[in-house]
Amino acid sequence: MAVDVLTTADGREKAAKSRAHAARWAAARSTGEVIEIGRATPPDHPARPERPELLSPRDVPKRKPGSPKGRVALLHAVAHIELNAVDLHWDIIARFADTPMPMGFYDDWVKAADEESKHFNLISDCLENMGSFYGDMPAHHGMWRAASDTAEDLLGRLAIVPMVLEARGLDVTPGMIAIFEKAGEAAAVDSLKTIYAEEVSHVAYGSKWFNFCCGRNNCDPKEVFHALVRQYFKGGLKPPFNEEKRAEAGLPPDFYWPLAEEFPAYLR
Ligand SMILES: [Fe+2]
Ligand SMILES: [Fe+2]
Repeated sequence: MAVDVLTTADGREKAAKSRAHAARWAAARSTGEVIEIGRATPPDHPARPERPELLSPRDVPKRKPGSPKGRVALLHAVAHIELNAVDLHWDIIARFADTPMPMGFYDDWVKAADEESKHFNLISDCLENMGSFYGDMPAHHGMWRAASDTAEDLLGRLAIVPMVLEARGLDVTPGMIAIFEKAGEAAAVDSLKTIYAEEVSHVAYGSKWFNFCCGRNNCDPKEVFHALVRQYFKGGLKPPFNEEKRAEAGLPPDFYWPLAEEFPAYLR
């Protein structure tokens, strides 16, 4: 099921398959039917549509969110992130299938993948209602980098994807919601609020399974987290942090503050 999603290029089709597989998983789990985790080889890079054109972040034109065009560009970037997230959540399932994990690990990532698919559809609908569509403008090419870097390292993947990148989403989403509220774009506000509410649980799944794996190896999660972020995520974390939502997701301040790029130089 994971590889089927990862090898589907079209965004809407990828999201539809993801949602169908997640429904099938949830149905089996509720009736007690056993679906074997099995083994599969996920592709190095997931299949993606021909458009959007993927560019280096510095070549993606910057648009001001004060203009309607700028807001469409912002939503386009969100759609791109959501589609990438669909692949990331299925990839962690297929990529690390040889590491024995409790069934709840798969339940969590299947649910997260399902939610990302819903997010992609919601934002794509917004784009289409604003006269655009996903693929209409260029997008960042580096999104899969975190996955490639941590393809052999489950703890590294958990540290970087849910606990750094998705946690960053919690930091920036309230500001985005405010932009669309100010512009009176209610559909975008509703979609972003849904995303904001559901992303907390994705960060929480990350910290839950990160802590679980550290505990199983008798390691201190905070120290392991610091080492992995320094190894895989160069440049440090960017404050301000959403301390409240991070706390809700099981991410305490002493995990991220020591990694902040703006940490005063004399304290480094
Ligand atoms: Fe999402
Ligand atoms: Fe997410």
